[in-house]
Amino acid sequence: MTATLESLTKDKAFNRAYQQFVADYPEFVQTQRLDVLRATEFSRLDQLHHIYLDYTGGGLYGESQVRKHSEMLLNGVYGNPHSSNPTSQAMTELVEKTRHHILTYFNASPEEYGAIFTQNASGALKLVGESYPFQPGDQYLLTFDNHNSVLGIREFDRTHGATTTYIPVQAPEMTVDENELLRSLDLARPDGNNLFAYPAQSNFSGVQYPLEWIALAQEKGWDVLLDAAAFVPTNRLDLSIWKPDFVPISFYKMFGYPTGIGALIAKREKLQKLHRPWFAGGTIVAVSVQANQHRLAKGEEAFEDGTINYLMIPAVKIGLDYMEHVGVDLIHERVRCLASWLIDQLTGLKHRNGKLATKLYGPPSSGRRGGTVTFNLFNANGQEIDYELVEQEANRRKISLRTGCFCNPGSGEAAFGLGKDEIISCFSRAPEFQSSSDFRGCFKDTHAGAIRVSVGMASNFADVYQFIEFVKELFLE
Ligand SMILES: Cc1ncc(COP(=O)(O)O)c(C=O)c1O
Repeated sequence: MTATLESLTKDKAFNRAYQQFVADYPEFVQTQRLDVLRATEFSRLDQLHHIYLDYTGGGLYGESQVRKHSEMLLNGVYGNPHSSNPTSQAMTELVEKTRHHILTYFNASPEEYGAIFTQNASGALKLVGESYPFQPGDQYLLTFDNHNSVLGIREFDRTHGATTTYIPVQAPEMTVDENELLRSLDLARPDGNNLFAYPAQSNFSGVQYPLEWIALAQEKGWDVLLDAAAFVPTNRLDLSIWKPDFVPISFYKMFGYPTGIGALIAKREKLQKLHRPWFAGGTIVAVSVQANQHRLAKGEEAFEDGTINYLMIPAVKIGLDYMEHVGVDLIHERVRCLASWLIDQLTGLKHRNGKLATKLYGPPSSGRRGGTVTFNLFNANGQEIDYELVEQEANRRKISLRTGCFCNPGSGEAAFGLGKDEIISCFSRAPEFQSSSDFRGCFKDTHAGAIRVSVGMASNFADVYQFIEFVKELFLE
């Protein structure tokens, strides 16, 4: 079991490490307001002895968010916003307020951008994929480093005869060769449909790719899909400065509650370009059985199929208010200090024989990276330690981290040096596999997976310190 905060503060080694940490990262002291928040709003973490290091998987909610939302539910009567009775109107007002608030939070002009409610970031990506007017000869350009739900858009472009092109990433820093990117961007088809997708922050390595690519690609004739799901929980995205065409996000990643709601923030002008492949309840202004015709609603409604998750939507406004109250810049600074310390420690870990114990994926310095730290551990003979073993041991100590490829196979292929032939050969054996871990086990010389720890709004120094102690105790020889 992990130590309580109280017992840690009596521990000399912990205190020494903390003093050294604040000497190395003096800016951390200015984020102490978040220690108070941890003790009040997130006290359940310490009460239940959890070390939560999976913020890239999902954020945590503050207690007051849940309380405010339940008060709203208990003190009002809310009906389906598709009706127009008083309870429905009350709900519509809250839904529209939230929609407006999302745009305000991201500093997006409501004339320029719309916010469509979806189930999650994947739902937002599917909306773009299925509606983007791909035709033969059109192009879908994306970096190797992308979440599966961005890669999945290729199935739509393929069906419509468009081509998919990938820009590789270079391991271990997981950077993109900008010359190669520029060469690919120069190949936009004039008068064609060209869609370019990349993550503002990698969910695999924490790398932050330049937001300057947005305007660069647009100037060269591309529509830009900026996957901001892993970026916005700890970074400010100002849509009055950066103007991507499509931005998918999941709110639970930002502030933990509610789950089940995401958004596609999209330029209104580009929404006009999308062709929905069907219509559904809530998306039309006119439809007839006999005339066999329908007319889609204008704007966001045309993309919200059926009844939206209306009771939970006001919790998004509460969550955004919470982020504003805490301050995303303060969260950013804290996460930067903690992640940098984690990287310093991990990359300095050595066995007694002098061999390094860790291989880090992503940049070793804090510039252009977020709070996601991904690595593998090696024993004193230089053999890779199975990440599943690390996870099992972490689980036993109530340390929540993530292992595997994190739904980002392109980064995994680059990080673990997997070649196309080897991957195709493993695919040919796929019928034997019971799980994705069997698939990853098929590769030679690597466990084809890594360990990911990520910090966020409620993280403190004790979390990262105890994680490093856990690694030292169990895996250093
Ligand atoms: C960068 C990125 N994009 C997209 C997604 C998909 O998000 P969701 O599972 O909420 O749809 C994730 C989830 O981890 C992500 O990290």
